[in-house]
Amino acid sequence: MMSNMQGGKAHSSAGGASHYEQTMPSEALARHDAFMNREAPATHSDWLQVDSYKARIEPVDASKVALLHELTVSVFWPHRVHDLELIVEQGRGFVALDEINRPLSSVMQFPHGDDFAMLGMMVTTPRLQSYGSGSRLLRRVMQDNLGKDMRLSATRSGYRLYESAGFVPVGRVWQHQGLVRPIRPPTAAENVVVRPMQAADRAAIHGLDLGAYGAARTGLLDRLIALSECVVAERDGVICGFAMLRQFGKGQVIGPLVADDDALAMQLCAPFLQQSEGRFVRFDLAVQSERFAAFLAAAGLGSYDTVTEMRFGRLRRAMSGAQTYGLASQSLG
Ligand SMILES: CC(C)(COP(=O)(O)OP(=O)(O)OC[C@H]1O[C@@H](n2cnc3c(N)ncnc32)[C@H](O)[C@@H]1OP(=O)(O)O)[C@@H](O)C(=O)NCCC(=O)NCCS
Repeated sequence: MMSNMQGGKAHSSAGGASHYEQTMPSEALARHDAFMNREAPATHSDWLQVDSYKARIEPVDASKVALLHELTVSVFWPHRVHDLELIVEQGRGFVALDEINRPLSSVMQFPHGDDFAMLGMMVTTPRLQSYGSGSRLLRRVMQDNLGKDMRLSATRSGYRLYESAGFVPVGRVWQHQGLVRPIRPPTAAENVVVRPMQAADRAAIHGLDLGAYGAARTGLLDRLIALSECVVAERDGVICGFAMLRQFGKGQVIGPLVADDDALAMQLCAPFLQQSEGRFVRFDLAVQSERFAAFLAAAGLGSYDTVTEMRFGRLRRAMSGAQTYGLASQSLG
């Protein structure tokens, strides 16, 4: 497996001709090849030297949720155990453990279909950052997904690592959050009705998300539907948007939210904000819209931080029409 990377172009070695040449800048592919070749023979070893620690790499499964929680708490991520249970259930990944089972580093992938994977949950415990374990685990998960389109949400501390692995920026994601203040509901468009989701709406939600997200993530959507309150928007009787609200981190998150303009996104968001008055709500905004951002800020959800969406392979998500305004989470997209 690893031999197909040695001394060659890692990006073109996965199953013959690669589409990366058509979809990625050549400088990014050169960085990717250098990254993948850096420690090629070790990439698939289950051992890792991190400073003075000898760590073993184990697959992530339900038994690793508490260890992942230790890691996310160490980097001040707000995930609760139930958030990580969802993440572990929906993805695959690796965690590096030292001799006494302390978690040092993690990475996960969320494959959707056979040609796309979202990468996430990259964490190294702070005292062992910059010793190479993040690169090593990223290389391993990228090797497993070579030939596919990959996407991730890069924090400031991860950006350089992903850039060196060949990822290129797609756009910003603004993390809005805060205690919800009373809002003046946006004026509803005459031909648009927002109502609770019904079972028969599921296919329409899958279809809208497929276009907006750029990959069929029906399993994840169905799980999110089961865990969330969901509303849909009908325009002239046709479903044109949806939004979900669920428990996440310090409170609740609104997302995914798919809409084809700011007015519709606000109309979908408003009922959730009204019912959550006084409570902590988060919204990861993946569309550059001053109007929608101002709407969130007026509701008490100020802009707290940003991450950068990055891709390796095709740009698959919609940049016009029905778009993902709100992410399910930064790791899941
Ligand atoms: C991003 C992260 C997982 C990298 O893990 P790591 O084990 O430190 O990775 P590596 O040791 O392989 O270092 C990778 C690169 O990141 C740089 N780096 C490591 N820690 C860093 C930090 N805290 N701030 C800035 N850069 C950092 C390293 O210098 C290295 O760059 P180089 O190859 O140009 O020298 C780790 O910094 C982390 O857990 N950060 C906090 C959580 C987070 O934001 N995760 C990213 C989610 S997208």
